[in-house]
Amino acid sequence: MAVVISSSGNSPAFEGKMTVYVFICVVIAAVGGLIFGYDIGISGGVSAMDSFLEEFFPSVYERKKLAHENNYCKYDNQVLQLFTSSLYLAALVASFFASATCSKLGRKPTMQFASIFFIIGVGLAAGAVNMYMLIIGRILLGFGVGFGNQAVPLFLSEIAPAKIRGGLNIVFQLMITIGILIANIVNYFTSSIHPYGWRLALGGAGVPALILLFGSLLICETPTSLIERNKLEEGKKTLKKIRGVDNVEEEFRSIVNACDFARQVKAPYRKLMKPESRPPLVIGLLLQFFQQFTGINAIMFYAPVLFQTVGFGNDAALLSAVITGTINVLSTFVGIYLVDKTGRRFLLLQSSVHMLVCQLVIGIILAKDLGVTGTLGRGEALVVVIFVCFYVMGFAWSWGPLGWLIPSETFPVETRTEGFALAVSCNMFFTFVIAQAFLSMLCGMKSGIFFFFSAWIVVMGLFALFFVPETKGVSIDDMRDSVWKPHWYWKRFMRQEDDHDVERRSTRAF
Ligand code: BGC
Repeated sequence: MAVVISSSGNSPAFEGKMTVYVFICVVIAAVGGLIFGYDIGISGGVSAMDSFLEEFFPSVYERKKLAHENNYCKYDNQVLQLFTSSLYLAALVASFFASATCSKLGRKPTMQFASIFFIIGVGLAAGAVNMYMLIIGRILLGFGVGFGNQAVPLFLSEIAPAKIRGGLNIVFQLMITIGILIANIVNYFTSSIHPYGWRLALGGAGVPALILLFGSLLICETPTSLIERNKLEEGKKTLKKIRGVDNVEEEFRSIVNACDFARQVKAPYRKLMKPESRPPLVIGLLLQFFQQFTGINAIMFYAPVLFQTVGFGNDAALLSAVITGTINVLSTFVGIYLVDKTGRRFLLLQSSVHMLVCQLVIGIILAKDLGVTGTLGRGEALVVVIFVCFYVMGFAWSWGPLGWLIPSETFPVETRTEGFALAVSCNMFFTFVIAQAFLSMLCGMKSGIFFFFSAWIVVMGLFALFFVPETKGVSIDDMRDSVWKPHWYWKRFMRQEDDHDVERRSTRAF
């Protein structure tokens, strides 16, 4: 399967402009990211709402009322965590099916499947009268996330004119952050509506899901997907439409060539296991692990719960989550602006130091002053919120968007969608792990949780320093020569491939 994405650097300049039609397509498709973000943001608020807990988790509700007994453990409940995390486990499984539908049927139908899963999932979760409906609803939402997260970034990359492809890729992350923010605002307002505020909060995801379903009728299939499935004429017609020019011959030929070349690789997953695929594969997968072990989702899923834990009231906790959500959105623009200027490595390294300091400060304040049954003073609680905001800022311009961008630009064309599918499912797996374990970890490790994430931030900073090469401005099809071959560590895998090539050539010669 082929995805043609070019970076601004050495890639040929094809004719075309950013048309209104492409703009409409991008906005509609990116609604998929918005639903993902909404799901991330809504769970924490809902799991802190009394009427929701009373109905589904009475034992947690009882414990919450006795909150002064133990700050860190009041929400620790495996089934409550399953409510949040089941979605990501389902998304993990779904991304493999989505990779198949993406290549066999196209990106557009895959997005439409996503919206149908979302709509049924929202209906079940918001209308739930028992735990089964609730969990099955979450699982269907997870299918929607798996299908959406596979199809949307590919769609965005394939539809965008080459020179603004990097920035457009981060629009996906921007929509995620907007989704999280909307969810935080919805949580804030619905938390005081008893007894069905939580139903409104969960049901809110239905609005973007409907927009995606009907909106997707207006968008086109990507030229790459059409050409890949041998619909050459339709592919060319679509290319003319989205580029807004008649002369698309050069870009058309380049897509046809990429698809021809990709067709020769019959077993892309086997190819991914070969040494020459090691650099993008190891980096792509580890970035997902590290992205989640920054601890970001401990904040995103559980911000209201976390703020209550450090002594904020219900409303104040939700309001603080709205503030962190706003910071998250605004800081993503910094990432969009800087990523092609300072490069990826600078952002990863700067933010590792930045996030480390924030986690340490939060951990030290909580360890020193919160205690297991005490509360923080107003001043200290405020400092905690400020450092949470700084921390979110650092993540939003680095490990957040780059976790999606780097895997989308480092795999060679013949393994790009499969490599990306592995990265998506790896992200979902570790998102699941954090969602399932965080509240228990908080209960067991107390403020030590912040030191735990700090230690991982040190590891990922070192990994970025030694193993993540700069890919800014490098043509996407030139990674091997410009990035991997000169790299002090990754070059050894390239040499092996050269040996293989020589071996293959000499075997053929005999
Ligand atoms: C991550 C999510 C996270 C979000 C926060 C995304 O890049 O994949 O897990 O919740 O950023 O903005």
